Amino acid sequence: MCGIVGAIARRNVAKILLEGLSRLEYRGYDSSGVAINNLDGVSSHRAVGKVQALRDKFTAEPLDGKIGIAHTRWATHGKPTEANAHPHFSGEDLALVHNGIIENHEPLRRELKAKGYEFKSETDTEVIVHLIHDALKTEPDLLKAVQNVLTKLHGAFAIGVVKNDENGRFIAARKGSPLVVGVGIEENFIASDQLALLHVTDQFIFLEEGDVVELTRDQVTIFDEKGEVQERPISVFNHNVDATDKGEFRHYMMKEIYEQSSVISACLEGRISETKVLTSCFGAESEFLKDIENVHIVACGTSYHAGMVAKYWIEDLAGIPCSVEVASEYRYRKVAVPKKTLFLTLSQSGETADTLAALRMAKELGYLTTLAICNVPSSTLVRESALTLLTNAGPEIGVASTKAFTTQLTALLITSVAIAVENGLSAEKEQELVQAMRSLPAYINDALAQDAHIKVIADRFANKHNALFLGRGTMFPIALEGSLKLKEISYIHAEAYPAGELKHGPLALVDEDMPIIALVPHNDMLDKLKSNLQEVAARGGELYVFADKETDLHNEDNIVFTEVPKVDRILEPIVHTIPLQLLSYHVAVVKGTDVDQPRNLAKSVTVE
Ligand code: G6P
Repeated sequence: MCGIVGAIARRNVAKILLEGLSRLEYRGYDSSGVAINNLDGVSSHRAVGKVQALRDKFTAEPLDGKIGIAHTRWATHGKPTEANAHPHFSGEDLALVHNGIIENHEPLRRELKAKGYEFKSETDTEVIVHLIHDALKTEPDLLKAVQNVLTKLHGAFAIGVVKNDENGRFIAARKGSPLVVGVGIEENFIASDQLALLHVTDQFIFLEEGDVVELTRDQVTIFDEKGEVQERPISVFNHNVDATDKGEFRHYMMKEIYEQSSVISACLEGRISETKVLTSCFGAESEFLKDIENVHIVACGTSYHAGMVAKYWIEDLAGIPCSVEVASEYRYRKVAVPKKTLFLTLSQSGETADTLAALRMAKELGYLTTLAICNVPSSTLVRESALTLLTNAGPEIGVASTKAFTTQLTALLITSVAIAVENGLSAEKEQELVQAMRSLPAYINDALAQDAHIKVIADRFANKHNALFLGRGTMFPIALEGSLKLKEISYIHAEAYPAGELKHGPLALVDEDMPIIALVPHNDMLDKLKSNLQEVAARGGELYVFADKETDLHNEDNIVFTEVPKVDRILEPIVHTIPLQLLSYHVAVVKGTDVDQPRNLAKSVTVE
């Protein structure tokens, strides 16, 4: 949450910063701002709302300079007002942008007020810039002043600092929030995410916890937490820049929904043969698989739903216990860890604060090993986990996760089968599952073929205020994910229940105003689910049934039927996800909401 960009170059950096902010809008879009350092001093524009509002200010009054920092905000402390927008200043000459949360901002604010500092915002950030200003009174070197101040901060931060009489450099630092350095030719950059800098470089240095960086045009000097200079490797970004383009689609979300067949292929590539899961995909240390006796999965949001599906797969295929928990709960309780337990995190971004904190805690708890299933190779989660399985979904820009979710499921299926093989799964069954996986991309395309039909039924949701999703078995987490998608982007209140729980409460909500979305694959739960649907129909509820032909369900008076391809049971949760993504997308479009950047949300949640 919040995105920062910084640049030092021989050219005017304003355009570079604005483009960087647009690419970081997925991290927050409550307000944005830029501070540019030039020979006349540090000047700044800030604006409430999306980066376009800031661009408009630049059009009306351009700022020109060769060093600058910029920020797009997801409000935590203080409302999304211009006064709370970054950069924050201390005096006229010192400006700072910050991503993260300073937990001890209240005592620090009191100390600074006692020294005569006046606060212009309600943010926790403003204390940092005043502290640096104060430190400069006794330590005139900006780098050292920043290093001194960082020791006083509790919480998470990535910062960029510019100062007027520092025309040849700017300073950045990270601890607990992501920050990369972009290395150019006679120009250098910082950003919360390398995507923000792909228009200027493809060479990146990933900073480590506690790193402080001095950036000049020609040099990047990194100091670790102890103040010692460190060399960190440069990595070259290997995704196509076009991945951040909407192409022919109106929204990123739709583009990403349609990419699922190809990214699932990319996720499977090199991980399965004709007959087997290739355990080499877990790296050289894949022998950990044979020792696993338990699995603990920890994740947030959509990733958590993927974990819930994996629990069914692992317990069913491998016959070993698996528990799934949201990271924000796991990290604050005493966890009993059975021996030989795998700690498995799931994260699209690999930067989610709660998931990272859970991993750090787990590392002290005697787990067998830690495995991250993640979409971002350079993320903190990947770097801090012992083992990684990348989902290879490519950059996901829409805030509501789509292709990142189905590739997580694909990677989890690979992992579940690999664990099962070590726990007695027959070679014949393994081959059957692998062959099913190979047909997955084609099934995804078949499911997408219902797009036009789903667009039509989406109209009927436009004036609804509530919706209820039902599923059984692996369809229950998919119902949860479908309801999350609907509420995230169309702002319709939606809940999901295991269909068998209907009679224990939610049935009381059912009337003709309540659409019920039921996920009904043709499997051994079918008859039970059909009875649940009868319970709804008997109360006048309007049923939207997503089922395959073999279920013998079809359009009736109070049933709107959508066909989902008939697939192997193991693939049902992945394939049934597609129509629900399309439904929430089309409902949001009908309602006219901001599909890619829904209100109050952010793609990457790097604060608690
Ligand atoms: C945010 C995003 C969700 C995502 C969750 C976990 O809330 O809006 O789409 O599922 O974070 O993110 P992660 O990157 O850890 O999967």
